[in-house]
Amino acid sequence: MPKNIKLIPLDRRPPAPPAADRSQVDLSVNLAGMEMKNPIVVASGTFGFGHEYGEFYDLSELGGICAKGLTLHRREGNPGPRIAETPMGILNSVGLQNPGVDYFIEHELPFLRQYDVKVIANISGNTPEEYGVMCEKLSAAGVDMIEVNISCPNVKAGGLAYGTRPELAAEVTEVAKGHAGSTPVMVKLSPNVTDITEIAKAVEGAGADALSLINTLRGMRIDVNTRRPILKMNTGGLSGPAVLPVAVRMVWEVANAVKVPILGMGGVAKGADAAQMLLAGATAVAVGTACFDDPYAPVKVRDALAQLAADQGLARVSELTGGVRPW
Ligand SMILES: Cc1cc2nc3c(=O)[nH]c(=O)nc-3n(C[C@H](O)[C@H](O)[C@H](O)COP(=O)(O)O)c2cc1C
Repeated sequence: MPKNIKLIPLDRRPPAPPAADRSQVDLSVNLAGMEMKNPIVVASGTFGFGHEYGEFYDLSELGGICAKGLTLHRREGNPGPRIAETPMGILNSVGLQNPGVDYFIEHELPFLRQYDVKVIANISGNTPEEYGVMCEKLSAAGVDMIEVNISCPNVKAGGLAYGTRPELAAEVTEVAKGHAGSTPVMVKLSPNVTDITEIAKAVEGAGADALSLINTLRGMRIDVNTRRPILKMNTGGLSGPAVLPVAVRMVWEVANAVKVPILGMGGVAKGADAAQMLLAGATAVAVGTACFDDPYAPVKVRDALAQLAADQGLARVSELTGGVRPW
């Protein structure tokens, strides 16, 4: 150490200034007419229907719960192994295992309705008509929003095919909107495309009330000794911290291309990650894979985001939305 630097003994350092009071920050956001008390949603497929996490904390702490992806009829999903760890994330090929839309409405929705939290139903169909039937049922059942998944990389029919072709994405959106009554429809975009803004614009033009992004990025791992892929489906979808910069870039591109609000997700695990999503243009943020690492992650992200806003002297967290200052 250079001789001319004097260290101040710890006990004589001035105390750190008190942290700004995060409880003064207004966390409420409005996502396509859906008022949430805070901008933190949990991502579809990473929170089941909330039962397990509900044993850790009161689910009313969250802004919204995006339920596990539903199909018209129940699905067993893909054979295992269907989860593989990667540096900074996971690959999954779950393949939309779920009990079907009717079961959800009868058995799971009443459970979620006990909480003061917005309920978003996530749906996948094999045909545009299936999306329409599910929208009709879910709208009648009174969910707060319908998230139309046109981006699942782990199913053969429908799924990703709709999310990678603008005209098909628009067709599904139009049918969903036509059957959702007054329930807002949010379309979930795939990152597995060359230009995500093309799909975003097509879907907005077809009447989507909001967009959510990103779903998982297609990936693969191979066991070098057996020469077998780790996942039984060979490939899967990558999520977790590794995808955050891709997701932030895509949210930013889409926010610059459309007017509808965005639910940003992909690798959010910390308050600053959520702030990046908002600055890039998202109105609200979903936490997914981070829940597997720490069930409290969504609540911690909410509190750290509030602290970050308080430290920056903001009165409302919504002031962050679109606030990035590009060079
Ligand atoms: C195990 C698993 C299951 C998922 N299932 C669904 C699903 O049913 N529907 C859907 O739209 N997205 C599904 N996703 C994607 C997530 O909702 C989210 O878009 C993605 O994981 C990126 O966010 P994250 O990095 O915070 O997890 C799933 C993700 C994982 C890891």
